[in-house]
Amino acid sequence: MRIIVTEDYQSMSRKAAMMVAGQISLKPDSVLGLATGSTPIGLYQELIKMYQAGDLDFSKVRTFNLDEYYNLSADDPQSYHYFMYDNLFNHINMKPENVSILDGMASDFDRECREYEKAIRDCGGIDLQILGIGVNGHIGFNEPDSALNVYTALVDLTDDTINANSRFFDSPDLVPRKALSVGMGVILRARRIILLASGENKAEAIRETVSGLVTTNTPSSFLQLHPDVNLIIDKAAASLLDGELIRSV
Ligand code: GLP
Repeated sequence: MRIIVTEDYQSMSRKAAMMVAGQISLKPDSVLGLATGSTPIGLYQELIKMYQAGDLDFSKVRTFNLDEYYNLSADDPQSYHYFMYDNLFNHINMKPENVSILDGMASDFDRECREYEKAIRDCGGIDLQILGIGVNGHIGFNEPDSALNVYTALVDLTDDTINANSRFFDSPDLVPRKALSVGMGVILRARRIILLASGENKAEAIRETVSGLVTTNTPSSFLQLHPDVNLIIDKAAASLLDGELIRSV
């Protein structure tokens, strides 16, 4: 694991954007795995700036998002579809046919999940996966449990996640209790991973990700088994890591 500690949220976002830009410049038809949540918003803003400056071309880029809430339609402002268009796709030259996001309103969820995985495989797999992290160590919506999904599935959200994400909804009762999420297999097959984290409330999850046991109680700890993970985190999120460790991993 490569651990890059930045001064603040903005420099975290800029560093991550440079890495994503490098990926797209070297391989214009890159397949990106994208995340939602408040953490990657700064990264998306930096990418939009680079596009507007003429430095980045998304016309051949293919994207797959990690997850989507159950039973929210694409035009619901709380859906991850809406989030992605609002925060990124509406501002760059992505081709709509190159964007894939799981359909939270699908009539057959098993089929939706199977076809999503097949579409990722048919594109040759994910070149670069962007991840945020839940306070409980979830990645995508792979929640801590006695076992984890390898494959993409409809999953139950934990109370921790429902509480954490209720800030985006008018009331906690409105937070969906289920979501569609790519499985751990999809994430761990990505050739390269960037995990972003900012703020003290992520420090514990980051410590467990980096130096905890690999356990299904902390899904992000499985990233220790991946050969190319870049943690780009701000000082606050890194505050529980010991300095020795940062140098030695
Ligand atoms: C949601 C998403 C995750 C994301 C997490 C953290 O639960 N499913 O992919 O990493 O939120 O969100 P935030 O960045 O807002 O802390």
